Amino acid sequence: MDIEAVRWADGRLRFLDQTLLPHEERYVETADHHVVAEAIRALRIRGAPAIGVAAAYAVVLAALQSSRGPATAFFPSIRRAIDLLASTRPTAVNLFTALDRMRSALDRSTALPASSVVEVLLEHADSIFRHDVESCRLIGELGAALIVPGSAVLTHCNAGALATAGAGTALSIITTAARQGKILRVFVDETRPLLQGARLTAWELARARIPVTLITDSTAATVLRKGMVTAVIVGADRITATGDVANKVGTYPLALMASVHDVPFYVAAPSTTLDRATETGAEIVIEERDPEEVTHLAGTRVAAQGVDVFSPAFDVTPNELVTAIVTELGVLRPPYTGSIRRLGPPQ
Ligand code: MRU
Repeated sequence: MDIEAVRWADGRLRFLDQTLLPHEERYVETADHHVVAEAIRALRIRGAPAIGVAAAYAVVLAALQSSRGPATAFFPSIRRAIDLLASTRPTAVNLFTALDRMRSALDRSTALPASSVVEVLLEHADSIFRHDVESCRLIGELGAALIVPGSAVLTHCNAGALATAGAGTALSIITTAARQGKILRVFVDETRPLLQGARLTAWELARARIPVTLITDSTAATVLRKGMVTAVIVGADRITATGDVANKVGTYPLALMASVHDVPFYVAAPSTTLDRATETGAEIVIEERDPEEVTHLAGTRVAAQGVDVFSPAFDVTPNELVTAIVTELGVLRPPYTGSIRRLGPPQ
């Protein structure tokens, strides 16, 4: 069965609880938007596009829930739900793009009866879902054209089916190129501290029967220096108007290493990850995580007592280190200010 990170199922949202992978494949179904908000906060649903899709459907759940309550509370409670969902994680712009679209649809629907409002919101959420599925497919096709036969690629974190409504972004390129017989091996950074590489990306690739080698994050420089990797491909949580890229912490050092070793560094993301209103990476709010994720391993403390922790979830790669950005609308090349502007308004 295909991986389905998030899917609408008959008035409920169905999602795969990613905190349990790779040991357990447990799908959760809920009609409660609070459960979706908690799932995003706790990284049960994660990855920029998947968060956006889940949040859009959670607004529909909120509308369904409030349609059973007093009429005067209907619109205010949906707006409260949107605010709650927007507070779950700060960095991935897809969350805010999706919620802004749902809020605008709601604002245009205030004269409609509750049942029609629910329908309108569901149409928008479905459209966000379908757009993401199609974007993943196109990113895979466009990006695979950049991969030369006999490649070994390196990726970080998880930008696969688990992180989107479709086949993924960076992993869509990798799986498409692998189907074309161009990829010999994929190196996967384990991705400290939450191990999205080891737990999720390695699981997806092994499931797709693509040869995968797991490395610690600090081994990346060695494989690059030894010429074991011909391209680095990662996803993104937010790309600014100048092409600076926020992605899982550890992406920036990879870009630096790739540049030193003259290896192309590709970023794959749908146009919904572009944040044209933000000029540079310095303006992006970077989520900070709970220190326990660093001081503890599987619930056991491994760090010395009495130490402080700094644990940003993401870092920013400056645009000059990015060889190309693969979107569903085309492959962008530097200078990105121009290539992003030429893409036109958001889709
Ligand atoms: O903290 P996470 O697991 O949500 O971080 C995810 C990433 O950094 C991904 O690379 C990014 O969202 C792109 S997913 C297509």
